[in-house]
Amino acid sequence: MGDGRIDGNWEASWERLVDWIYQVAPGVLGAKDLRATALGENVGELSRLYNRQEQGATAGGSFSDVSSAQDAGFLAAKLRFFSARDVAKFWGPLVELAQAPGFVPPADLAQGAADSDQGAAPFRVLDLGAGLGTATWSFVEWLRSTAPHVQAVDVTAVDSSSGALRVMERLAASAGTMGWPKVTLKTRVADLRERPVNDVAPTGGFDVVLLGSTLNEWLDLSDSGVPEFEPIAARLEQCVKTLRPGGAVVVVEPALRRVARMLHGVRDLLVARDNGVFVFGPCLTDRPCPMLGSDRHWCHGEKPWRMPQGLGELARGAGLRDQKVTYSYLTLRGEEGHLGDAVGGEKDLFRVVGSRLRHKGRSEWRVCGDGCSRLDEVAADGVLDGESETNGPARMVQLKRDRNSGSSDVQDIQRGDVIACASVGSKNRELRLGSESTLQRIHFPLDR
Ligand SMILES: C[S@@+](CC[C@H](N)C(=O)[O-])C[C@H]1O[C@@H](n2cnc3c(N)ncnc32)[C@H](O)[C@@H]1O
Repeated sequence: MGDGRIDGNWEASWERLVDWIYQVAPGVLGAKDLRATALGENVGELSRLYNRQEQGATAGGSFSDVSSAQDAGFLAAKLRFFSARDVAKFWGPLVELAQAPGFVPPADLAQGAADSDQGAAPFRVLDLGAGLGTATWSFVEWLRSTAPHVQAVDVTAVDSSSGALRVMERLAASAGTMGWPKVTLKTRVADLRERPVNDVAPTGGFDVVLLGSTLNEWLDLSDSGVPEFEPIAARLEQCVKTLRPGGAVVVVEPALRRVARMLHGVRDLLVARDNGVFVFGPCLTDRPCPMLGSDRHWCHGEKPWRMPQGLGELARGAGLRDQKVTYSYLTLRGEEGHLGDAVGGEKDLFRVVGSRLRHKGRSEWRVCGDGCSRLDEVAADGVLDGESETNGPARMVQLKRDRNSGSSDVQDIQRGDVIACASVGSKNRELRLGSESTLQRIHFPLDR
């Protein structure tokens, strides 16, 4: 498979979603719709509010105050900009999830069921903190492109804001032109801080649970600035219990240091608790998260996608970035197995968790994976602990003189990639790609 095939598909899907949102927005928002300067001003203002609250600068405020604001201008900004932008953030985790055994029903099974008297069972989605349905629309578009044999999707959307759910209902009623499976939507107004997940959704009934940029709001991280891992882990355990066998919980959050590090801490807690919750991605290993070794680091996904045109103009007008999509995420399942397991083979798999640096005849980048165990002895000797600069994820290094045809993919490495390496050595505190080493970027879905 050539580079960028997945990204190319998604850019087309992203444009479809944005076109749809722009087409239906006047009918969905009615008198609350805005365009041009007024829209741009509200996008800028809402963005400033999100930022101030992320920095904890608004006394007594929380993300949810902004999220639940039903101000007409903000509603238009949320749909026409923030939702239209954030649909892109689910794609990376979803492409990876397609590798999870048993997640997508095989086409022949679905066809068999469709031919039987009962017809094919719908795919069942639980969207928690659904807002305007951003995560759901992204997921349904992904199903259309990835599993076109899925004919029906039942969505249960839960949010504390009845106004947001009303907009989501209007969007669902306008989905007929998208070529999606038939979407049936049930909405429930509930405060997920107060109600356990199994109180709002039945146990064992869902194929996927989606949480888009909401977890940090339920838990009011902005109040103390100190993430409390325990209640978040408990909520996510409840989410996994609502899954049917083979299902998955996908949590997507902004690529902000504090929020991403909250996910790392929760992930470590879930792994340590061994309570029937397994991390499928982004981690390729159950080793403790190396990001927590130093607060300078956090793991996030990054895609070099330029926003569709109208959206890009709005972003630039509001002083926001339009050239890449960033997010942090955690994919959980009730079955054991990491993303990389399907790759198989003798090679070591690593996740690239930092940007590539080039200087003085060497390229280096930060990685995470079981192969980092080569450095454990050095760490145990205290060499790593003694130097804060080297705490955090392992460095992988290739010297210019060691470049070879088996590692030409090094040139294309980007943050978030999964790479398969053979004959990796270690020297001092670093993993070394020597002249005998090979490195290959893994593309999902896998070529089989
Ligand atoms: C930033 S929006 C994200 C919406 C959507 N999931 C997405 O991916 O764009 C956060 C949503 O979480 C909801 N939310 C915040 N706190 C909540 C709570 N305690 N219970 C239920 N929903 C909550 C807000 O009302 C809002 O719709």
